[in-house]
Amino acid sequence: MKFVKKDFLWGGATSASQVEGAYDVDGKSLTIAEMRPFNPNLDRKSIGELNAYTREDYEKSIENKDGLHYPKRFGVDQYNRYKEDIALFKEAGMNIYRMSIAWSRIFPNGDEAEPNKNAIEFYRNVFTECRNSGMEIMLTIQHYDVPYPITKKYGGWSNKEVIDLYIKFATVIMNEYKDLVKYWLPFNEINIATHSPITGLGIFKEDFATEQEYKNAAWQGLHNQFYAQAKVIEIAKSISSNLKMGCMVANIETYYADCNPVNVLENLKYQQMERDFYYDVMVKGKYPTYSKRYFEENNVKFETTPEEMEVIKNNPIHYITFSYYMTSTMSKDISETSGGNLLMGGKNPFLKATEWGWQIDPIGLRITLNELWDKYQIPLFISENGIGVVETLNENNTVEDDYRIDYLSEHFKQMNEAIIDGVDVFGYTMWTPIDVVSLSTNEMSKRYGLIFVDYDDYHKGTGDRFKKKSFSWFKKFRETGEL
Ligand code: BG6
Repeated sequence: MKFVKKDFLWGGATSASQVEGAYDVDGKSLTIAEMRPFNPNLDRKSIGELNAYTREDYEKSIENKDGLHYPKRFGVDQYNRYKEDIALFKEAGMNIYRMSIAWSRIFPNGDEAEPNKNAIEFYRNVFTECRNSGMEIMLTIQHYDVPYPITKKYGGWSNKEVIDLYIKFATVIMNEYKDLVKYWLPFNEINIATHSPITGLGIFKEDFATEQEYKNAAWQGLHNQFYAQAKVIEIAKSISSNLKMGCMVANIETYYADCNPVNVLENLKYQQMERDFYYDVMVKGKYPTYSKRYFEENNVKFETTPEEMEVIKNNPIHYITFSYYMTSTMSKDISETSGGNLLMGGKNPFLKATEWGWQIDPIGLRITLNELWDKYQIPLFISENGIGVVETLNENNTVEDDYRIDYLSEHFKQMNEAIIDGVDVFGYTMWTPIDVVSLSTNEMSKRYGLIFVDYDDYHKGTGDRFKKKSFSWFKKFRETGEL
């Protein structure tokens, strides 16, 4: 089968805190991502690690007196090895690199009057290297790495003052890089906010008197991000019409577990609030009617102003990007749960799962693409998709990762089918072209890359890069278009 679209963006995605390292260079502050330790006793099928630690634990980590290991402080050393990595991405045939920029490098405390010049220079060099290698850049402005000084002083995203700090940061980088970076995503997986408020918003339970207040603060933080994103889109228009502004959502796709109407309804309600809600706000520019009932029944209260709602209405996103790894099922009573990316649903007997319990479902990607296109009618882009596996180098210094070739090619085929169905998809960035530190479990052992990186869970190793079998497969696919 030949991939039908000629003019298509093919590449890979990473995030600053998972690849860069160099956590203390040039005045960079620590981010919340760099303050959560690796837990060798973790339960791989649980997403609990994301919420496991308290503000006190984070505070203690600053001096690291307990000698724990904080993997995201080291990443895979891309800060120093970016030229080598970009050369490999080019060799694989990629024409886009989705990466993120660390707020903690540009404005370490968030409220400095001027950005850090060295950090501005660093990213200019990285972007220039990409462009000289024939790659567009898709830049995530915040990818789970709120600078800790901002959460300490301002309490994180539930505080409206943080909106101004973020807008200042975004405005500076859009002005700096308008000629280098075309695609912009203000927030990674904006829908994580209410599920892991530490990760998405930098807010901690201990700062609130009750569980309900904490929940409301998370919804407030989410609203503040919706508004901040819309404001950034408004500002982007005044900077340059070349800036293409999109969203990034962890696409939660669930099937109803059976044809019992009770379960069909349960799934509908779940899909409305866990998936459509986000696209509805960012594409249609207002809170959907079904969310009103949800807020009432769950005592959700947060503050919006008419001015904020006006900005949200007038500045919808230009295109949708989303991460797609898996699907699960939904019913009134879930008998057996699956693992999952950020959220867990029910097990699907028709699907196989990874070691982390993520159920592999290429056809679900075609379904998702069709559904999103039918509902929103704006261009779509898959900004993350891939498979995490425990891998080691063999005697030939490679990994025979046929399962990854299978995973990727099956998803590419379904994307192709969706395009033939008439869906407007303009690009794909796999998670990830190179092994990185896992977002949820902080492991290095959970490897997604076409390129193997020689570090273990404790950052021991040479850091050298080795091409896996999937690297050559992807390169060939890019040359021939043959699936
Ligand atoms: C997405 C995140 O949710 O999933 C990435 O945007 C993350 O940052 C990816 O790495 C895979 O998750 P994990 O936990 O396997 O790294």
